[in-house]
Amino acid sequence: MFLTEEQKGMLDGKKGEVVQRCMRLLVRLGEIYGAEEMMPVKSVQVAGVSYKTVGDAGLEFLQDFADKGAKVIVPTFLNPAGMDLVDWKELGFPEEFAKKQNQVMEAFRKMDISISATCTPYLAGNRPNKGEHLAWSESSAVSFANSVIGARTNREGGPSGLAAAICGFTPKYGLHLDENRRPNLVIDVLAKLESNSDFGALGVWAGKKAGKKVPYFTGIKSATEDQLKILGASMAASGAVALYHVQAITPEADQDISELEKFEFTEKEKQETYDSLNTAEHPQLIVFGCPHASINEIREIANKLKGKHAKKQLWVCTSRLVKEKAEAEGLVKAIKEAGGHVVADTCMVVAPIEQMGFASTGVNSGKAATYLPGFCKQKVMFRDIDRLIEEALS
Ligand code: F3S
Repeated sequence: MFLTEEQKGMLDGKKGEVVQRCMRLLVRLGEIYGAEEMMPVKSVQVAGVSYKTVGDAGLEFLQDFADKGAKVIVPTFLNPAGMDLVDWKELGFPEEFAKKQNQVMEAFRKMDISISATCTPYLAGNRPNKGEHLAWSESSAVSFANSVIGARTNREGGPSGLAAAICGFTPKYGLHLDENRRPNLVIDVLAKLESNSDFGALGVWAGKKAGKKVPYFTGIKSATEDQLKILGASMAASGAVALYHVQAITPEADQDISELEKFEFTEKEKQETYDSLNTAEHPQLIVFGCPHASINEIREIANKLKGKHAKKQLWVCTSRLVKEKAEAEGLVKAIKEAGGHVVADTCMVVAPIEQMGFASTGVNSGKAATYLPGFCKQKVMFRDIDRLIEEALS
């Protein structure tokens, strides 16, 4: 693998032990994937933030790195944490968990990482440009950056993302290269997509068909950014899709698909997907915002809750920045008056909801519906927003 003089110096320890360890990891990764060189990255999103997922071993690793003087040199932000970093007490997060989560955040802060803990950094002041190279880690953010924006990133793990942030480089392989961004299968959508959860159902089904491949969708007449983020998140959860194209909608969709294998998503597949994900009839907790809600989604929820009062816990998960925007518009107050909470920095999957006494959750996200049974021991209601609000009010 070709290394510049600067990169060789990093590998030889001229910039200290931490940089040397990080560069070693990046070179090793590049060798495994056949990269010919390193490339600079514009921004990094670091994984392994929730104490629920990293545990004590992860916390000790981060504290050790921070104590040894690790500092990031490109704009770097975080995946969702395990709790709302401000309102955790009011929301009933356990004290001991909060103490550990705060220690994780402190280690990141020491490394100069921005404490923006979200899976939608592109809605929270960190929207990349088309063609930019990144080292992002959260699967739905990776999918959105590649597919909807046309930026380029592999899905980084915790250590490789952190190493890229500290060195400023990532090995040039995978989705950084044109040849790996071409579609390998076509999914013709014949079913009606009437709600965000329909896009989630399509994503769950398509992710299973595609696995690690790049699907190309035909038959989707229109889609909002919110629907595309739900579609990508769901495919990344049921499969490992990090890039997809939608005919006439996404920026790299001008492709020859004539020779590709084709699958059809009809009403039958849609219904079967809903049936397979629904295991709860009356969930205890209703959560929107997977991926983290946009300001438009928060407006829609606030509007639907106007004049009503939720009898069940209702959360709308989002980034801190979008929560601030929602506060300025009076939406946080409106949702609170209707018995709900706008929850920042975390989500239903990486928060310890099972420890908080919840056994069943209602969601309109295919990703959350896929992960909640395994990660959080939840029974799931997967429905559209209107049905879930009806459930919250009953
Ligand atoms: Fe984001 Fe959590 Fe969903 S990280 S994509 S809200 S599972």
